[in-house]
Amino acid sequence: MDYIEDTILFVKETLEGAEGGHDWHHIHRVYVNAKMIAKGEEGCDGTVVELAALLHDIADSKFNGGDEAIGPSKAEVFLVGLGVDDEIVEHVVQIIKNISYKGGNFERDFNSLELQIVQDADRLDAIGAIGIARAFNYGGFKNRAIYDSSIEPRMNMTKEEYKNYSGPTINHFYEKLLLLKGLMNTETGRQLAESRHKYMEGFLAQFYAECDGVV
Ligand code: ADP
Ligand code: NI
Repeated sequence: MDYIEDTILFVKETLEGAEGGHDWHHIHRVYVNAKMIAKGEEGCDGTVVELAALLHDIADSKFNGGDEAIGPSKAEVFLVGLGVDDEIVEHVVQIIKNISYKGGNFERDFNSLELQIVQDADRLDAIGAIGIARAFNYGGFKNRAIYDSSIEPRMNMTKEEYKNYSGPTINHFYEKLLLLKGLMNTETGRQLAESRHKYMEGFLAQFYAECDGVV
């Protein structure tokens, strides 16, 4: 598909200077993972998967004053301009609207195999060694504490609480990252999540051991 090349250029340009965990390199990893997961899922629309992976963080609301409409609408305008079929545009827009984790209580209002694939690819990039790097980069970007033993993780936050929350980055592992393994949609996603999850558990064990000065 030649719109893939145009989309790659658009995303690279738009995300120039983005926070390190939500930049072109994140998009590229999600794009590669999504294509790999799609291979194991019969009957999925590869064009929708690729376009949605490339455009899923084109204007993340976290970096756009909390506005959740900018990303989907930016993607829509771009795809319509490229001449992509209406049905594909609509599907990609729905994926972008519904892919994001918004606390434990968020109910999405759209579902498809293609959404599940791109969501798994995005979630894989939130866990494992890369997930650890991204979490601390985001925490640094927001000037958050790395760890504060007096602040307990908050489970089951509402969407609003999750959006406005600013706890230490270690808490983010309990509030989201360690929960992702159990939320994977596809078999390939589940398998890959397993080793990345174990890696994070090992990291946390070492982290606390170092805090206690026992290693
Ligand atoms: P999604 O991809 O589901 O929309 P986000 O964009 O909120 O999720 O989060 C992507 C990544 O950004 C997280 O996996 C994490 O690495 C980082 N991140 C987001 N919120 C926080 C936070 N409060 N503390 C630390 N890292 C965060
Ligand atoms: Ni993402």
